[in-house]
Amino acid sequence: MDWPNELGTLILTARNPTESGDAIRCAASILRAGGLVAFPTETVYGLGADALNAKAVAGIFAAKGRPVDNPLIVHIAEASQMESLAQNIPPEAYLLADKFWPGPLTLVLESRPAVPPETTGGLHSVALRVPDHPAALALLKEAAVPVAAPSANLSGTPSPTSARHVLDDLAGRIDAVLDGGPSGVGVESTVLDIRNGQPLLLRPGGVTPEEIAFILGRECPQAYWQENMSEPPPSPGLKYGHYAPKAPLYLVRGQPGAVLDRVRELRDYFQTRGDKVGLLLSRESAGDIVSEYVEILGDRKDAGELAANLYAALRRFDQQNVDVIIAEGYGEEGMGLALMNRLIKAAGSRVIDVE
Ligand code: TXA
Ligand code: MG
Repeated sequence: MDWPNELGTLILTARNPTESGDAIRCAASILRAGGLVAFPTETVYGLGADALNAKAVAGIFAAKGRPVDNPLIVHIAEASQMESLAQNIPPEAYLLADKFWPGPLTLVLESRPAVPPETTGGLHSVALRVPDHPAALALLKEAAVPVAAPSANLSGTPSPTSARHVLDDLAGRIDAVLDGGPSGVGVESTVLDIRNGQPLLLRPGGVTPEEIAFILGRECPQAYWQENMSEPPPSPGLKYGHYAPKAPLYLVRGQPGAVLDRVRELRDYFQTRGDKVGLLLSRESAGDIVSEYVEILGDRKDAGELAANLYAALRRFDQQNVDVIIAEGYGEEGMGLALMNRLIKAAGSRVIDVE
């Protein structure tokens, strides 16, 4: 079959499970031959390569411009594959896999020597997950190899939640993209170190620490690390800036009324300077603020909806070439933790707390 392409990157359509067989087979054969294929997952699109093929994995880092010490998540079709990639797996890991896979939870476990250092960033641990997306699962089964995949964006830009986003960043740099429609969760998986049976949250994501704590019957603390600390970060991802749109983003946190007042003040200040100002707001707030460039993420109380729309909104601001973005902050309960983690990273040092 002749597939359309953009700058040589094949566009394989797999939106309908019954008509996607050819696309899945083509994507799988590219992976088996050591090529790079971006594919949909329920969180964001991943840029996949055979996790056990060091040369193929090196291609991921080159295509993304990713620092080589930042390890990749290895995607598997089912939990039983854990044992071929990890060892000394604690019972807690099986409990979590049983409850949350397929789904947006990544488990960090002690790695087996078969996993090359290119995949693990030279660490002795490996990050595993079973994605909850029909096209991803079909691809993993057909390829019959574990697939290492970071988010399929250029390093540092917002993660892609559609094949269009992938092509905007990586057309001409990868062999193919499997188009399975928009990603539903919209922020990346939760990364959890579970090596000694004690959960340590390395990155908040699609499964909340409340849910993990409930299943394990114990607290799920979040790893703490700051730039100026002498020890290395518990996850290399913590030391890299992430998720940033091109324009500086100001994040305003606090009580909704006070937040809205400060957002208006900032908008007026930047507009007076002649800046093109983008506002990133909840539906409730957007009803009260007028501006030319507004992205509505969803209902203030629905952190899942807000998170699902975040990256696409940041990419639209990039395309409109806004000079500055002012974002409303939200509560950190449930999915709010992952949402605010991404907003805070996008803001860098520009977080404003109001009373
Ligand atoms: O939802 C997701 O997780 C998506 C989809 C494609 O599965 N993938 C993703 O990958 O977000 P990436 O590479 O953008 O983020 C992986 C994170 C990084 O912060 C990395 O440092 C961390 O997981 N990580 C990977 N392996 C690790 C390990 N062995 N120990 C600690 N952290 C690890
Ligand atoms: Mg990423």
